[in-house]
Amino acid sequence: MTRALDPLPALPVTTPGGSYDIVIGRGALADPRAWLGLPAAQQAVIVSNVAVAPLYAQALQQALAPHYAQVSLLPLPDGEEHKTWETLNLVFDHLLGSGCDRKTVLFALGGGVIGDMTGFAAACYMRGVPFVQVPTTLLAQVDSSVGGKTAINHPRGKNMIGAFHQPQRVVCDLATLDTLPARELAAGLAEVIKYGPIADAAFLDWIEAKLPALLARDEAALAYAIRRSCEIKAWVVGQDERETGLRAILNFGHTFGHAIEAGLGYGQWLHGEAVACGMLMASDLSARLGLVPAAFGERMRALLERSGLPTRAPALGSTRLLELMRVDKKAEGGEIRFVLIEAPGRAVVAPAPDALVREVIECHSEAIAS
Ligand code: NAD
Ligand code: GLY
Repeated sequence: MTRALDPLPALPVTTPGGSYDIVIGRGALADPRAWLGLPAAQQAVIVSNVAVAPLYAQALQQALAPHYAQVSLLPLPDGEEHKTWETLNLVFDHLLGSGCDRKTVLFALGGGVIGDMTGFAAACYMRGVPFVQVPTTLLAQVDSSVGGKTAINHPRGKNMIGAFHQPQRVVCDLATLDTLPARELAAGLAEVIKYGPIADAAFLDWIEAKLPALLARDEAALAYAIRRSCEIKAWVVGQDERETGLRAILNFGHTFGHAIEAGLGYGQWLHGEAVACGMLMASDLSARLGLVPAAFGERMRALLERSGLPTRAPALGSTRLLELMRVDKKAEGGEIRFVLIEAPGRAVVAPAPDALVREVIECHSEAIAS
């Protein structure tokens, strides 16, 4: 008698826009069980980039071959600076040029840049086709592949053009992290750390204790960090898919961080690096507003520094950063709204006086050369 294979460990995500599983495991990419039950189609298209495709596209093509008559590969240019209309158009050119119909399934193989762009292309092509997230960075495995936010950047603001479009599945292969550069691993840790202050004080304690193991890519530590992060994200987006309220807490550190990225020019600092510095600023702002003791900011600084993440913003000036922050998606009528910490594990979204925000920026930025 043949015994059914144990299913791969999976976490459910349930939203009005779609329910799906996050599959997490070493070797998931080559595991046939990861690819069962996806929407049927003649064609599948793997959207990746020139750095990731040579590493993992062949394995994915082989895994998908039993399910689709045609599996094509589109390697896009690599980098945040290519998260643009021009690159998005390359996806549409490929889909139309290959005769892809409205059942075609897109597979996003790469980090958050590829995931966000492929998801947006899937939301738009023929008014919406299915897509699957195959995240290969820590950041994408713990955050960007889950929850259905898709976007490209605009020179005036990060992720300003986009759509909500939930994937059909998220397949995280832990083995892909073996080839991730250390700087990218640290950037991903910034988004892992984020979940502690906003939602789970015990997880923050755990990250502090396990940081050496995480930095050494200990498999069990990384697997737990990814699973717990995905659980928290699934819990949040399950309650507020479209960010009418609660979901905004996932943007802890992002109001400052997005402004740093846009101000410097996309691709100078990694997204996770900008978020790290932004989390320190938002923690300090929370303390200056009397929500948490100043010691909380120092706790965050120590953890971010131990993670190899930047804690001083570049010399952009508080006037420029404030101007960029007013374009933030959480801003209402030009009033910037910040994700603030009330206690480890509890966040609130609120405005803050410009003068205080300036103080925070100046305290945590390099001085502008006179
Ligand atoms: P990224 O996609 O640019 O990937 C980082 C770098 O690592 C790239 O050079 C990439 O080619 C390379 N890479 C990817 N996987 C690799 C691997 N396994 N081995 C070796 N190299 C590999 O950056 P990211 O940090 O993954 O994602 C950042 C993006 O995610 C930002 O654009 C951000 O706005 C977005 N984001 C979106 C959400 C969301 O909810 N949609 C959430 C957080 C971040
Ligand atoms: N990373 C923010 C969100 O998904 O809402």
